[in-house]
Amino acid sequence: MRTVFWEDRQLRMIDQRILPNRFEIVSLCGHRAVAQSIQDMTVRGAPAIGAAAAFGLALAGFESQAASTSGLLADLQAASTLLKSARPTAVNLAWAVERVMAVAERMKAESSVDELRQLVLDEAQRIADEDVQINRRMAEHGAALIADGDTIIHHCNTGALATVDWGTALGVIRTAHEQGKRIHVLVDETRPRLQGARLTAWELEQYGIPYEIISDNMSGHFLRTGQVQKVLFGADRVAANGDVANKIGTYMLALAAHANDVPVYAVVPTSTIDLSLAHGGLIPIEERDPAEVLGIQFQGEPVAPKQARARNPAFDVTPHPLLTGIVTENGVAYPPFEVNLNKFISP
Ligand code: MRU
Repeated sequence: MRTVFWEDRQLRMIDQRILPNRFEIVSLCGHRAVAQSIQDMTVRGAPAIGAAAAFGLALAGFESQAASTSGLLADLQAASTLLKSARPTAVNLAWAVERVMAVAERMKAESSVDELRQLVLDEAQRIADEDVQINRRMAEHGAALIADGDTIIHHCNTGALATVDWGTALGVIRTAHEQGKRIHVLVDETRPRLQGARLTAWELEQYGIPYEIISDNMSGHFLRTGQVQKVLFGADRVAANGDVANKIGTYMLALAAHANDVPVYAVVPTSTIDLSLAHGGLIPIEERDPAEVLGIQFQGEPVAPKQARARNPAFDVTPHPLLTGIVTENGVAYPPFEVNLNKFISP
């Protein structure tokens, strides 16, 4: 089953807030609900929120009462602004919305209102279908880097749930496993929302890939004691120089891996690469509700004092010198990234 899919004129998605304890599909009938589902992380992961937002535009098309294509386009533009503002860091969100809007703008003059609505939906469906193919290609390139017997630290969730299907970094691990390589995954639990412990572990269970969950502060120990051969993660945005914004904690992990000569790979579709930003310092970092940090309990009680305050940046930037390579659907880019990344972007 895909993470997000169109059915009966609705957008359906796996509710990622309640996994692994419950598996439920939610159905959304309007673009505002889609923006909300991205914000509250019912759907999360850069490619998955891009596809969801594209389908959100399709819903906006069907919601629109416009009698002309220019009226429809105005409604789509308003919806695109709302959808793009749902989360700031993953560039796939704006990329997908802008791709659908470009089709609507190009076809406005030569289509009826109904035809334009359908074209918007078709483009959203194309983005979703392509995402699965792109992940498969990325996984083949990445799996070639994995050796039989590797232990891999993986951060956040980058699997089928973070994409339309298959996954980015976790997709590499799945493909290597399917190729018969014996892999062991150390799953960073990924505070504060625990995408690793909840979602990645749930996926690995289903694929039959051996794993153990570690708390985020354990990775340095495993890296220093020679128990890890690779570090893999995805990204929400890659700047032109190869700096990578990904789930908070990625930077510390990459630092520890680099200090211990363990190869570090980011696995990203080219839609995650933002050549308009020269370096990672320009990537907007989402700051989420401190309640996500303070909400954790220990022995059934809140951990922190009642009045405690907290910080909650959802992403951090890993400077490119810490990366061994960036795996894309078009091959693996190696340093110097400011020269080589460009070559992997499809025309
Ligand atoms: O806040 P999330 O769960 O949406 O963050 C997701 C990540 O950081 C992933 O690693 C990233 O989207 C790349 S994997 C497709």
